[in-house]
Amino acid sequence: MKGVEDSSLAGSGRGFLAEVAAVLLLSFTVIESASLIGLSRGVTSTLPHPVDKVLGSSFSVMGLLGAYYMLRKGDWGAYLAILTSAFELVLGGFSLLKAYMMMDLGISQASASLAAILLGSLTLLCVFETPLNRGGNPGKGSLKPASSGSESRYAVETINVTKRYSLGPHVVLAVDGINLKVRKGEFIAIMGPSGSGKSTLLNLIGALDRPSSGKVLIDGVDISKLDEGELAKLRNEKIGFIFQAYNLISRSTVLRNMELPALVKGYSREERLRRIRELLAVVGLEDKIMRKPKTLSGGEQQRVAIARALMNDPQIVLADEPTGNVDSKTGRVIMKFLRKLNLEKGTTVIVVTHDPEVARMADRILYLRDGRIVKEEVVGGASAWKEELKAVSS
Ligand SMILES: Nc1ncnc2c1ncn2[C@@H]1O[C@H](COP(=O)(O)OP(=O)(O)OP(=O)(O)O)[C@@H](O)[C@H]1O
Ligand SMILES: [Mg+2]
Repeated sequence: MKGVEDSSLAGSGRGFLAEVAAVLLLSFTVIESASLIGLSRGVTSTLPHPVDKVLGSSFSVMGLLGAYYMLRKGDWGAYLAILTSAFELVLGGFSLLKAYMMMDLGISQASASLAAILLGSLTLLCVFETPLNRGGNPGKGSLKPASSGSESRYAVETINVTKRYSLGPHVVLAVDGINLKVRKGEFIAIMGPSGSGKSTLLNLIGALDRPSSGKVLIDGVDISKLDEGELAKLRNEKIGFIFQAYNLISRSTVLRNMELPALVKGYSREERLRRIRELLAVVGLEDKIMRKPKTLSGGEQQRVAIARALMNDPQIVLADEPTGNVDSKTGRVIMKFLRKLNLEKGTTVIVVTHDPEVARMADRILYLRDGRIVKEEVVGGASAWKEELKAVSS
């Protein structure tokens, strides 16, 4: 428990530092812009004309862009912030040195130089403490865990998360302040009556929907801080989603449906085909590879959807009633497969189910009602299913 609080606090602290860096960069831009139009003195005021104007305007723009990208947690923010701060420090130091040597620096110029040195040093401190600059992850740095570079113990955390839907004058509180911590490698079942918010919660965890308030952390990363591109990357690389309503492309073959996520991941054609055959065999559909989903039964479509969700070897599998449309025998085979995946690969699994027998395979069952967790039960399903799992793997 403590670990999670620590890591989320660390995460929010580092988000805060990026915001502080942005404010410092903006302050520098404001001071320099005022000096450019002659309202006050800035760090470039001691330079000869037109060098003062050229450098002043260039670094004002750089400070502005740096602030923008710092807020968006992009690596460019860090590079621009470092450049701008270095400029502030060098010119601020230069002005002060000049004043010391020539004893001709007025009080306003001395303050401008000191302010630049202070702003520059503080910005650098904030930038080097912000996670986007740790580890040199090129491009989108913010998929890194928020917890000071060390991996989070939790695959999923929700912090007081809510989801409201407005239907005319009516407001539906589909998820009402859920706090949930799912350890890496844990197998969770979610149960509850129809309309209790199970799918909504799963959609929030799977980054398919944004919460009305509260936070969702995946692998320590606060997903509200990610832009659409980063969210798509997270969904594609870390999460396998098995939808309640399959979501297969009905005009494409099973092969094509399964190939799509793997194309994004960049597997070779041979590797893709090998994985597709392997996964279809697991769900008992190897002979249906060239069929179109509309020619398959509901249960078969569900099994294709399950196989597709596993194509990219996700760290987290979110399954919304994966056995809802299959007969009980197939349902058990599917669940055993998910449990096997969980035990052998450490995949975190969250399954929504109406079936108490399916839920008993989990480590923990959460009961939802009216958008809240009303009961939690530790069932330790792994040991109970070990014997059956041996049968599946043989
Ligand atoms: N897009 C939406 N717009 C308005 N209300 C919605 C929307 N999606 C869900 N809801 C409402 O939110 C509540 C929770 O819905 P949700 O689909 O999460 O329930 P569920 O527990 O998955 O139910 P089921 O077991 O039937 O699948 C319901 O009252 C539902 O009507
Ligand atoms: Mg549902």
